Amino acid sequence: MPQQDTLFAGAFAGGSRFERENQALEREGQSVMTQHIGELNPPVRLMLTPGPSSIDPRVYRAMATPLVGHMDPWFKGCMDETQILMRQIFQTENRITMPLSASGSGGIEASVLNTLEEGDEGIVAVNGVFSERMYEIAKRASSEVVKVEAPYGKPVDAEDVRRAGKGKRIKIIGLAHGETSTGVLTGIDAYRQVADELGALLIADTVASLAAVPLDVDKQRIDICFSGSQKAISAPPGMSPITVSPAAEEVFRKRKTKVQSWYFDLTTAMNYWGKDRLYHHTPPISLIFALREAMRLVVEEGLQARWERHRVNQLALIAGIEAMGLDLLVKHPADRLPTVTAVMIPSGIDDAKVRNQLLDEFNIEIAGGFGAVKGKIWRVGLMGYCSQKPFVLLFLAALEKCLLDQGFRVPSGAGVGAAIRSYSQVETAAAVSR
Ligand SMILES: Cc1ncc(COP(=O)(O)O)c(C=O)c1O
Repeated sequence: MPQQDTLFAGAFAGGSRFERENQALEREGQSVMTQHIGELNPPVRLMLTPGPSSIDPRVYRAMATPLVGHMDPWFKGCMDETQILMRQIFQTENRITMPLSASGSGGIEASVLNTLEEGDEGIVAVNGVFSERMYEIAKRASSEVVKVEAPYGKPVDAEDVRRAGKGKRIKIIGLAHGETSTGVLTGIDAYRQVADELGALLIADTVASLAAVPLDVDKQRIDICFSGSQKAISAPPGMSPITVSPAAEEVFRKRKTKVQSWYFDLTTAMNYWGKDRLYHHTPPISLIFALREAMRLVVEEGLQARWERHRVNQLALIAGIEAMGLDLLVKHPADRLPTVTAVMIPSGIDDAKVRNQLLDEFNIEIAGGFGAVKGKIWRVGLMGYCSQKPFVLLFLAALEKCLLDQGFRVPSGAGVGAAIRSYSQVETAAAVSR
């Protein structure tokens, strides 16, 4: 379990609305050249968002350790350890396994730009903003890429992808394992089968699912799998772990044209992360320290235990949400992404007012919807360090207060009560099976 040391220590420092307004007033009318900027003092938020998530104090400590050079022999050893941890979390022996110096979107760019050349056919399963982003990036690499869609709140049926690819030379099939914009989980295995039938590489965006949801890159034969440091791994944003199968490496070798992006050319980037350790670009060393520590904590907890923690905490959150009389966007329980719960905003409730109140009164950040579900849902993230019982109970109590203040009738303590019962059931079942 994560440590809870200091999450709320000095929670409101520098973060209250009063303080923000005062600072803005002080600056008003002053020349930019004479304005004094004080020491950085961010508030300590509880980030129950779809990412980034709050991080363990041990990860902060790792990030603040002394800088070393990226060609320092000691750092090269640290790179080895980082890659070992990453392989353990992806569950892969792939040679190309490294953190890209980029946010999760860099993982999308690298995956599709290294595989696709103009004229190549491909399919992206689109059921939200992030899978749409993969489609958009893939389309820029080859005009022959098509999308197969599902309504928001549902996974794309692999059968529809099979139909769309029939009779074509499909080079890649891409999907978002966890679609963060709607909180939908898509099963990988049916897609693998379709990719095998069509002779295509399978690309999975696991930005919102790696280290929280069962995933085994080698067993599930995912050809390119990438993630983001800031979600269930619980490191700061800015790195995108990626892994590439030997079959995908073979496709890279057979390219007729150079990869459009120099920065995201995985073959040359791997000259630095491979055995030669040749300079490619200067990586964000302190972020690598943080990522290494965050991944060490993942492995220390154990993948199975971590998946179970995410599952149990989401079940309790959902029990609480439903007991308060609220609905979920994703109707089918098997389609729910354990890290992101999409809650329908009840009619008559002011979306922004609730989110501002959570921030100002309780120091909790959640996210609204975007794309087609903007203004219709709240997205509550329970990922990595944030997937904890105390945070679930605190959030439900805080949400009840915000809803009551807007006249929404919630039976007193209903959310917290239902969540506690959900936890008790899981604990009883575990005790019985021991
Ligand atoms: C599923 C998914 N893919 C890709 C991204 C893009 O990642 P980033 O914002 O780190 O570039 C996100 C970000 O939320 C995501 O949730």
